[in-house]
Amino acid sequence: MNKNFISLADFSKEEIFNILLEAKKLKNDKKNLDTAKLLQGKTLALILQKPSTRTLVSFAAGMVQLGGNPLILNPQDLQLKRGETLTDTAKILSFYVDAIMIRANKHEEVEELAKYAAIPVINGLTDKEHPCQVLSDIFTILEQKKINSPEDLKQIKISYVGDGNNISHSLILAAAILGMEIVVSSPKNYVVEKEFVQKGLELGRESGAKISLITDPMAAVGNSDIIYTDVWASMGKEEEREHRKQIFKPYQVNVALLAFAKPQVLVMHCLPAHRGEEITDEVMDGPRSIIFEQAENRLHVQKAILLHLLKSL
Ligand code: CP
Ligand code: NVA
Repeated sequence: MNKNFISLADFSKEEIFNILLEAKKLKNDKKNLDTAKLLQGKTLALILQKPSTRTLVSFAAGMVQLGGNPLILNPQDLQLKRGETLTDTAKILSFYVDAIMIRANKHEEVEELAKYAAIPVINGLTDKEHPCQVLSDIFTILEQKKINSPEDLKQIKISYVGDGNNISHSLILAAAILGMEIVVSSPKNYVVEKEFVQKGLELGRESGAKISLITDPMAAVGNSDIIYTDVWASMGKEEEREHRKQIFKPYQVNVALLAFAKPQVLVMHCLPAHRGEEITDEVMDGPRSIIFEQAENRLHVQKAILLHLLKSL
């Protein structure tokens, strides 16, 4: 079993389904009756180099609901700020806490922390991947489409429309492992990184997944069950926002774009959204949107990840 939760590519279809089954049980246990002590005495350190609402609060509240303690560490308050290495920090934190959730600027920083920590490390978003979000999104798709068997996921086509970023990378990996169809539609020069397409194709050979890149968003959403979008300028790219607004205009998820997909298409967004840019209010608040269900499910799925990594320690 993996010590860490850093990339979906490290997990098999069976492991992913087991975590999601646990999440379903947790969601059904509304009053937290059976689960309130499962992580009693355990501490999760949360280190965030970038802002967060959903990831921070769902992990912190999830830890409390399971009987454990969240410890929110501002990197500005740690000696990391004064140049203490990540390697030393990893070794030291391993003496005091039971797991670390980190949101980092660079993916390599999470890998380094995990390499030197004796305890589980969870990737709460990097420049390359956002596995906790996308695992939770798969849970939402199963729930909304009433799918109980992994095999039935193979009928689902996701069209991701927008920036080739961390979310799109993790979606490619998830689709590849689970045998889904994914089409990614981005403007030229803003496409997903080759490394993820290659990895996806590799994993997809076993699962039967279909992965393609199509520049035209209207063609990309054809026959789609899910349209997924994300901000055009991710955290750290804010200075490019105005420029990107011009380039990404044809990639807005609006009612006109939805008309090219299946009539029952569902719309997803990891949030936070820039309303009026990558998605209109009409779609975000409309009947096809499952965006707020997605946000709710972060809590249940993050709790399942915590149990998966910590229960037996
Ligand atoms: N979707 C997501 O990760 O949201 P936060 O940035 O608020 O954590
Ligand atoms: N792509 C976005 C996701 C935020 C949850 C970002 O990295 O800012």
